Amino acid sequence: MNDATYLQRRGQLETYFDRTAADAWARLTSTAKVSRIRETVRAGRDRMRATLLDCLPFNLSGRRLLDAGCGTGALAVEAACRGAEVIAIDLSAKLVDIARERIPSNLGRGSITFHVGDMLDPALGEFDHVVGMDSLIHYRAFDMVDALEQLAARTRSSLLFTFAPKTPLLTLMHSAGLLFPRGDRAPAIVPVNETNLRKLIAERASMSAWRTARSERIKSGFYTSQALELARK
Ligand SMILES: C[S@@+](CC[C@H](N)C(=O)[O-])C[C@H]1O[C@@H](n2cnc3c(N)ncnc32)[C@H](O)[C@@H]1O
Repeated sequence: MNDATYLQRRGQLETYFDRTAADAWARLTSTAKVSRIRETVRAGRDRMRATLLDCLPFNLSGRRLLDAGCGTGALAVEAACRGAEVIAIDLSAKLVDIARERIPSNLGRGSITFHVGDMLDPALGEFDHVVGMDSLIHYRAFDMVDALEQLAARTRSSLLFTFAPKTPLLTLMHSAGLLFPRGDRAPAIVPVNETNLRKLIAERASMSAWRTARSERIKSGFYTSQALELARK
């Protein structure tokens, strides 16, 4: 891992999600009224969450799952309701507080333990599944793959994450700064070419025990993101 670029980006993301955009994220991830543009983003994100959850066994009882970059916790709650022991971590203490407030009173047999910090912290232990929904999309492809490699070393079954697919339209929208209203503009999302990403993963010796499995692109108005599943061979 190039620690310098990873740490620099991580610091920007913490500032952005914990301060600049915390309220906007709380709103986007609630049922409160939002602009038309954000409605398309919300609908796309709902579909993406469902897509990622569909890649997991329905019954998650006895499975330890990392929600890597949990934000306000919607995916963590759904996984816990299906029985998982969820470890949910985010850089933003503010978003984690909101996630804690939003936990329903009954999670059935599942549980959620929240942490504030880096998803790569080895102290979090080992997992059956790791899910990183839109939490690696701001990192350079190389740093993204380094992060996946570190997480894979501690994961028994599957790793699900999303990336921003490099399409001509998306590249244009990113470079014109059109994806977020000016006031809440995030550190840039880094569009990634899928073929390159698969190649970067396949080149890592430590990833030889893994195969790329399901992949699905979700497009909804101003939201475009692609899910990729890595599964142990
Ligand atoms: C676009 S939001 C998505 C949040 C959530 N996964 C969802 O889909 O609602 C990205 C989140 O990833 C978190 N994040 C980014 N890098 C992280 C890291 N290295 N460790 C923990 N969280 C991270 C950010 O703080 C932010 O809350």
